[in-house]
Amino acid sequence: MKNLLSLEQLTAGEMEEILDLAATLKKRRGTRAAARHQPLRGQTWAMIFTKASTRTRVSFEVGVRELGGDVFFLSPADSQLGRGEPIRDTARVFGRLAHGAIIRTFAQRDVEEFAEFSGLPTINALTDEEHPCQVLADLQTMREKLGGWAGRKVVFMGDGDNNMARSWMWAAERLGFQLVLCAPKKYQPGAAYLAQFRSGGIACESDPARAVAGADVLYTDVFVSMGQEAEGARRLKELKAYQINRELVERAGPQAIVMHCLPAYRGKEITEEVLEAHADTIFQEAENRLHAQKAVMSLLARV
Ligand code: CP
Ligand code: NVA
Repeated sequence: MKNLLSLEQLTAGEMEEILDLAATLKKRRGTRAAARHQPLRGQTWAMIFTKASTRTRVSFEVGVRELGGDVFFLSPADSQLGRGEPIRDTARVFGRLAHGAIIRTFAQRDVEEFAEFSGLPTINALTDEEHPCQVLADLQTMREKLGGWAGRKVVFMGDGDNNMARSWMWAAERLGFQLVLCAPKKYQPGAAYLAQFRSGGIACESDPARAVAGADVLYTDVFVSMGQEAEGARRLKELKAYQINRELVERAGPQAIVMHCLPAYRGKEITEEVLEAHADTIFQEAENRLHAQKAVMSLLARV
């Protein structure tokens, strides 16, 4: 593994290797063994974010430092990227100065181009296409809470065609669990996108009550992703019926856990009541960002 640009690029074996190491790093955190694990020692990693972030930024900054490295943060507002310098020129500069890059932006192509022109280990910290780091942390949480994914049913509620939904699709495809994207037709992935999946475990359903029957995980994300603000009001209206609320959780049954990548908008994609009742799982996902990403960076630094 030279980069982490998407979950699509990973095999099941690579996902499991990351998650096994993430579990070890989590267990060891704060011990002497952890202090000896310094794969980024002597390295400086760059974080280039053109979208807002709380969890991703903090977990990567803490993670790089815990692995013995240094890190700096750059936004378009304080670099020439904001004045139109092309990605490929920025990448060629970074390739000569830094040791790795963590990028959050709009176009997937920009992250791919950065990786190609910098030659650095590059991590996708969210694009419009995928959010691989979040789903790795979610898989770690699923393992901790449910013992794994074999035979499990995950229902993704809301915008079934956004970056989170897409990373979940690749996880389900590679690892072989059942994934139901529960969304109105308009917010389901198109036929051409769905045609890539061969596992037979991915389905779309527009009826929430039907979708959640027997679910092990009810998952949701914001209805209005970063960059979609102009269509915010329409999205909130069209996705209103896809909220995770008490009634839906009860329909799923007592086995179901509720997950959310955060940030959460109470009263929109999830109710305050459900969010607080499942806060233990939801904030465990947020913590696992650190462990999963430390595992990814440890493996990238090994190459
Ligand atoms: N879940 C997630 O990526 O959160 P941030 O946008 O705060 O980084
Ligand atoms: N789909 C959301 C995820 C936020 C972590 C977005 O792109 O804004």
